[in-house]
Amino acid sequence: MGKFSPKQKSILKRTSADTLLSWYHHHRRELPWRSNTDPYRVLVSELMLQQTTVAAVIPLYERWMERFPTLESLAETSSDQVMEAWSGLGYYSRASRLHQTAQLLRDRASYPENLQDWLALPGLGPYTAAAVASIAFGLPHLALDTNVLRVLLRFFGWKVRADNASAHQALREAVEPTLSDLDFGQLNQALMELGATLCRIRAPLCHECPLNSECVGSKEGTAELIPLPKPKVAPRRTVGDVYLLGENSESAVLVQGTSLGLLGQLYQPLIDLPEENRTSWPWNPLCEKLRSEAQKKQRIGRLVYGISGRRLELDIYRVLAPHLLNEFRNTAETEGLPIAVLSREPNNSGPAVSSLTRKIAKVWAESP
Ligand code: ADE
Repeated sequence: MGKFSPKQKSILKRTSADTLLSWYHHHRRELPWRSNTDPYRVLVSELMLQQTTVAAVIPLYERWMERFPTLESLAETSSDQVMEAWSGLGYYSRASRLHQTAQLLRDRASYPENLQDWLALPGLGPYTAAAVASIAFGLPHLALDTNVLRVLLRFFGWKVRADNASAHQALREAVEPTLSDLDFGQLNQALMELGATLCRIRAPLCHECPLNSECVGSKEGTAELIPLPKPKVAPRRTVGDVYLLGENSESAVLVQGTSLGLLGQLYQPLIDLPEENRTSWPWNPLCEKLRSEAQKKQRIGRLVYGISGRRLELDIYRVLAPHLLNEFRNTAETEGLPIAVLSREPNNSGPAVSSLTRKIAKVWAESP
């Protein structure tokens, strides 16, 4: 990716920032994490909002806050309960990092007072650290999420990709030093709101935008072309089998993780993948035996599932084989591996399963 530096010095003028803040004041959505700026509430909301839409986060955030109303209550709970409460949000490593961060913060006398110290916490990258530092403490850091990037790149008319790191730096230089006395929590959220409502990816509503008269992208008619698209990479096709190994036709055993090295803290049925895709996973030998037990397997369906740049194509089998179930239990015991049970009848209690497992369960529930 080419290094980017603006042709002329660009800044976000105070008058433009004031216009934006006044628009935000009148048009902002009432969202549950906007009711106050408690750092814990802000931290949870920002971690939930990464890769998940506002609409999907709202009910899960409210449920989370009822369950873990304070940093201390989260720090003191078990990681299984944290995973369970995160269920529905995906990217479970974020939940476990949030849990670790809550424990680290509980053990300190006070919250971090600068961006570097927020950045040092597990799970906080440049975006989240800037969002928390600005929203909870008003510190002058731009939180460059996709909405904020789109708004600002269009405003300055910079035709670059959204992941161009030198453009990020140029944006910070264009906004942070001259406006450092503003509340950047408000400024960031105003930019996010503009990106979510008017400065949309396609068909932006420029005529309604408070920054329209200053926006280079709008004036040049190039807003919709900015940011430049990322080159498309086709997902890697990965073919495998899922084994619903159980004692009877209504239950199947679950294990943590997958042989891809993904979904580490969540429960899945045994999933067998070709060797070139596997990490060393304690369940691989059992999967190999399951693969060769043709007469004990009954194919009940197929699932295509996208995960981390892969397209998994999975054949799903029921397996009733007492000797393999015994071997399963022995492996769990000798290696000390956590196991659980999935029942065919859908229910809401039970272990924290991945959305992949939920989709497998659906195929199973709908099979004859
Ligand atoms: N996306 C990320 N953070 C957000 C926030 N604080 N408000 C709305 N959308 C967001």
